Amino acid sequence: MSILFENIGTLLTLHPLAKEKRGHSVKESDLGILKDAWLFCEQGKVSAFGTGAVSDFIKKRAQDKRDLENAYVMPGLVDSHTHAIFGGNRYSEFVQRLNGSSYQEIAASGGGIRSTMNATRSASDEDLIQTTLHHIADFQKRGVCTVEIKTGYGLSVEQELRLARLLKNIESQTRSHIVKTCLALHDLSPEYKRSEDYINALRNELLPVLIKENLVSFIDAFIEKGYYAPQQVETFLLAAKKSGLGIRLHADEFSNAEGTKYAALWGAASADHLQCASQEDAKALARSQTVATLLPGTSLYTGIPFTDARMFLKAGCAVAVASDFNPGSSYVKSLAQVASLAAIHCHLKSWEAIAGVTYVPAISLGLKGRKGAIHEGYDADFLVYKMKGMEEWLADMGQTLPDEVWIHAEKVQ
Ligand code: NIG
Ligand code: FE
Repeated sequence: MSILFENIGTLLTLHPLAKEKRGHSVKESDLGILKDAWLFCEQGKVSAFGTGAVSDFIKKRAQDKRDLENAYVMPGLVDSHTHAIFGGNRYSEFVQRLNGSSYQEIAASGGGIRSTMNATRSASDEDLIQTTLHHIADFQKRGVCTVEIKTGYGLSVEQELRLARLLKNIESQTRSHIVKTCLALHDLSPEYKRSEDYINALRNELLPVLIKENLVSFIDAFIEKGYYAPQQVETFLLAAKKSGLGIRLHADEFSNAEGTKYAALWGAASADHLQCASQEDAKALARSQTVATLLPGTSLYTGIPFTDARMFLKAGCAVAVASDFNPGSSYVKSLAQVASLAAIHCHLKSWEAIAGVTYVPAISLGLKGRKGAIHEGYDADFLVYKMKGMEEWLADMGQTLPDEVWIHAEKVQ
């Protein structure tokens, strides 16, 4: 199947980044903006794009044509950090925070991750499948075509495997591209007195099944005081890496617990949060292939400081922005809104914010060459807006939904 999209007012491609396979040192010209453009897709992939008259060769090959009526078109968004599979809700904790309690105080009194663990364990499989599909549909409506989803509210070998298997089932029921991550190290497990015993069980019992059934692409850990220290989880994470899984880390969110430092050392795909990372940590990240991922939704939602992206950009890091969608610390579903938030509060330039929710997170998810840009050979995932261009898109803060969402050159919204 081949489709020619004509009469595009503004086509934002990011093709300079795709050409150079570069996620760092993003500059304005890397947006690759074309005016009065066209886009030609074949077999679900971008086959050619350009400005002005379409060649007779392409016109003849096109089985279908679409007039986009001067629209603004940009790559489908890539959300590289969500916790979208969970039972229950934590609305009352949100109100508790409004009334003076902190995220940590609520967690210490039995709320937080533990309360979602209980609700997730007691939810039926069908319930979890349907609510997660509902969240994915909400992301898609708001322009997210690729979404990473972490387990992490099971917190035992059996329950974490259950969530990973459910994610595989969910993946088969949506057109969005799902990247699966195991976050069994999200909190301590109530079944084990010593966290060492839980970590050993993850290594001996969970990891072999994750690999055998090809359940996830990444392994994640919450590196934080009161949760996990790098030295505790190193053997397990490196064993996972040796088995072919990538590492992502929740790093230096509430305190500097050396998460960012170890992310660089272990060659993690991504270090996320980073509010309390130091300049040395930023330099270490820049020397590694690890993407620095900002999660401003968490700062907005819980009132903790925003990460200052300039330190990471100055050091030379590739910087992504993700929603951290979860029931407790960031119940935020619009990555477009998060991109604008990151620009305002984490001090990203407009081009850095846009690359931060498209091309850069795709790199961190191992999807270089497939997602996050409009370039030859890339999956034809793109958004169509009745807007003038990216200035309007950023200023709108995700309030206007895309008029059309295309994934693999198929209209899904
Ligand atoms: O990324 N920091 C740990 N995990 C989540 C919070 C999850 C929750 O509160 O349920 C986060 O912010
Ligand atoms: Fe998170």
